[in-house]
Parts: sequence; structure tokens; C-alpha cells
Amino acid sequence: MNKITVVGTGYVGLVSGTGLADFGNQVVCVDIDTEKIALLQNDEIPIFEPGLKEVVDRNVAHGRLSFSTNIEKAIQESEVIFIGVGTPEGENGEADLTAVFAVAELIAKNLNDYKIVCTKSTVPIGTGEKIINIIEQSKKTNNTFDYVSNPEFLREGAAVQDFLKPDRVVLGVTSEQAVKILRDVYRPLYINETPIITTNVPTAEMIKYASNAFLALKISYINEIANLCEAVGADVHTVAKAMGSDGRISPKFLHPGPGFGGSCFPKDTKALVATSKKLNETIRTVEKAIEVNNNQKSRMVNKLFNLLDNDIDGKTIAVLGLSFKHMTDDVRESAAIEMIEKILGNGGNVKAYDPEGMANMKKIFPDIIYCNDWESAVQSADAGVIMTEWHEFRGLDLVKVKDLLKSPIILDTRNILSMSKLIDLGFTFDNVGRKSVL
Ligand SMILES: NC(=O)c1ccc[n+]([C@@H]2O[C@H](COP(=O)([O-])OP(=O)(O)OC[C@H]3O[C@@H](n4cnc5c(N)ncnc54)[C@H](O)[C@@H]3O)[C@@H](O)[C@H]2O)c1
Repeated sequence: MNKITVVGTGYVGLVSGTGLADFGNQVVCVDIDTEKIALLQNDEIPIFEPGLKEVVDRNVAHGRLSFSTNIEKAIQESEVIFIGVGTPEGENGEADLTAVFAVAELIAKNLNDYKIVCTKSTVPIGTGEKIINIIEQSKKTNNTFDYVSNPEFLREGAAVQDFLKPDRVVLGVTSEQAVKILRDVYRPLYINETPIITTNVPTAEMIKYASNAFLALKISYINEIANLCEAVGADVHTVAKAMGSDGRISPKFLHPGPGFGGSCFPKDTKALVATSKKLNETIRTVEKAIEVNNNQKSRMVNKLFNLLDNDIDGKTIAVLGLSFKHMTDDVRESAAIEMIEKILGNGGNVKAYDPEGMANMKKIFPDIIYCNDWESAVQSADAGVIMTEWHEFRGLDLVKVKDLLKSPIILDTRNILSMSKLIDLGFTFDNVGRKSVL
């Protein structure tokens, strides 16, 4: 049984630690956030992630998974330490690596035996080398360590399944010993013949950024196609469906919408651009994907304002959906943020509802009205806007929406409402890339 510490118990650390315990390892998840650890020790999950509680409970019950704020002790007692702390956007779009380097220092000071230091956080190309140097320079003993870059590809909302059944595991390694130990850590996947791609550290670091930036690019591309569809009277869904049937293209990430958000694509694309600039290279495709995404978010605001003849002052807008996508409570970089900012900035009021994202959005907008259900949000509002594709919004009772709204005006930034029903009911509406019903 491998003894593992996962440092950072957020969306990635908690799911990874739980998944690694499910693979049969002995895992302690640690964090500096005492509140988060207290919740976990009390059998409560601090984030909304479908299916996570069941796997946490199973592994806690079997004694394979525990939670602690004693990071030093956990490091000393483990052979493999995963770094899963946040790497938020820092200055000039670069990733802020303060937390990663702080953990590296702590590992160095507690290197009481041979250990594997394995980074799961998304870190710019070249960070592995810096972590190795920090540990080499700060360690107080002759004990050795091996470094592994093991980027994580899970998606919030489907994180448990993604971790337990990944498309591939990437290991950027510095020694054969590390490969042997990591293969054992991921043994159930290894024997299931999940592709395990073993490479050097910079290649592994690059794989993560290249993958995320490509997906971001795909989203920006379909959003621009959607905008063009509006101009020519084409239906972007039919376009995307036909494009996606081509095996070379694939239907994934071809959904037009209000622009990508979340904790990864916005910061990872900027970090890749920052890295390329530092190296005197350019990555124009990704630079443009970021620009297109910013425009897309503003375009949604303009669409709403146009529906209201640019008369927002004193109007109340029902914002349905706050999280950056459905099935998560994560609101980081959500398109709903700019929408709310602009409504408030132009003298409007917001009544918001989201099945899971309200607690997090309250930290950004404490003073808007949060409602317990979509009906209360829509009641007497001047217009509604759908920002997140939650299932309960797909099935909105549009007759009821019309009755509750002051005037039947709705913006559907996720294209989840039936256009023919909206037309039949006499709504004034807009969406993304679909001007015609057929
Ligand atoms: N969220 C995703 O979907 C996703 C997917 C793949 C990769 N990633 C990457 O994984 C990393 C973590 O992302 P996240 O979404 O889990 O972030 P998060 O903000 O949810 O969690 C980070 C955790 O690290 C803790 N932390 C910060 N400094 C610490 C320290 N010095 N010691 C111990 N704990 C510390 C924080 O308290 C927090 O609980 C990032 O690099 C991110 O880019 C995220």
C-alpha cells in the first residue's frame, strides 16, 4: 500500500486524493484551510461534485482516506507527495506559483526519507525544474527525491469518473524508480491498460497547456462561427452537429455559448501566452482565442441590453445560472460575472438563482438578490437571462415564465430553450447563433 499525501484539498486535490485512495493507496489530504479540513473531518464535502461523497465515504470507512492540517507530519509519513494547490492568474497573465513553491519548501524541510514529489497543479513549462532546485537547495538531509509532473485532466462536474477512468495518465519523470512507483500508485489503471504516457518533465507540463488551450480554441472557434451564423441566417447547432460527425473534428467542445469560464481555460490560456512571450515565441491562435472569448462575454451583455432597448436603469433582470457550467458550484471566471457587473453598472437590479453556485457568487456580489428557485427569480422581473445550462433550466415551463415576467423578454446564452415555443408564446428573445427555427 503506497503512503500518499495530497497537498491542497480543492477541486483537484480532493478528487485526486479520494481517487488514489479508491485505487488502494493510503492517502491523507492536507490543506492550510482549516475550515475545509474541519468540514471533511466531519463527513461534509466542501464543494459540489456529483458522486464524490459516496467515494469519500467508502474510502474513509475502509481507513484509506483521511484529512489533516498537519502538512509537515503528512509529508514525513508519506513516500509520494502530490502537489495539488491552486495556481491562480498572477501578474501579466502568468501563473502565480506562490503556493506551489511554498509546498516545495515544506517538502524540502521534511524530507526525512526518499520521496517522490509529484505535481498535479497546472504549472508553466519549466516549473518542475524550479521545484527540483528549491528542494535541492532547502533540504536539510542527504535524503534523495524524484520529481514527477503528473498533470490532471479531470472536468469539474464529471471529476470522479474522469479521475477513476481517465483517457490517459501523463507522467513526466526524471528516473525509472519514479515510473515504477507511480505505475504502482495508478495500478488499477495500469492493469486496465489505460494509456500511461511517460515522458520528460517539460513535455508533460506542455501537454497540459497544449490540451487546455486547444479546447479553449475550439470553443472560441464555434462561438465565432455562431456569430457569423447570426449574420447569414444559419443555425449553428446544425453546423456544429454536421462538423462534429466528422471523426477528424469530433462533436466535443463545439457548443456555442456565452464564452468559456472556470478555473482553468481563462488562466491557462493566459499563462501559455505569457510563457511564449517570455521565450520570444508567439502563440497567436491562443491569443486570439482569449480575445474572442472576452468579446463573446461582452456580446452577451449587448444582446441583453438590445432586448431592453438599452434601457437598463431601474430594470430588474432575472439571472438564471451563475456557475461557469452546469454540474458545478464553481463560479470562477463565469460569464455570469460580467453580465451581473454590467447590469448593476448600468443602474439595473439582479435577482439570481443557481442550484449550486449561489454561495460562491455571494462572495463576489453580496448585495444582489438570491432566490430559492427560478420562479422567485423570474417573478416580476423585466427580463430573464439564462447563463448556465442546468437541466432544470432546459425544462423551464415557458408558459409560467411568461406569466411571471413583467414582459416576456429572455436571452438564452446556452441555446437550451425551444425557439418554436418562444415564438408561439410571443417572447422577445435572443440566443447564440440561431436566428431561424429550422
Ligand atoms: N479545477 C479543475 O477543474 C482543474 C482541473 C485540472 C487541473 N487543475 C489545476 O489544479 C490546481 C488546483 O486547482 P483547484 O481547482 O483544485 O483549486 P482550488 O482553489 O479549488 O484548491 C486549491 C487548494 O489549495 C489549498 N492551498 C493553497 N495554498 C496551500 C498551501 N501552501 N498548502 C496547502 N494547501 C494550500 C487551498 O486552500 C485550496 O483548498 C490548479 O493548478 C488548477 O489549474 C484544476
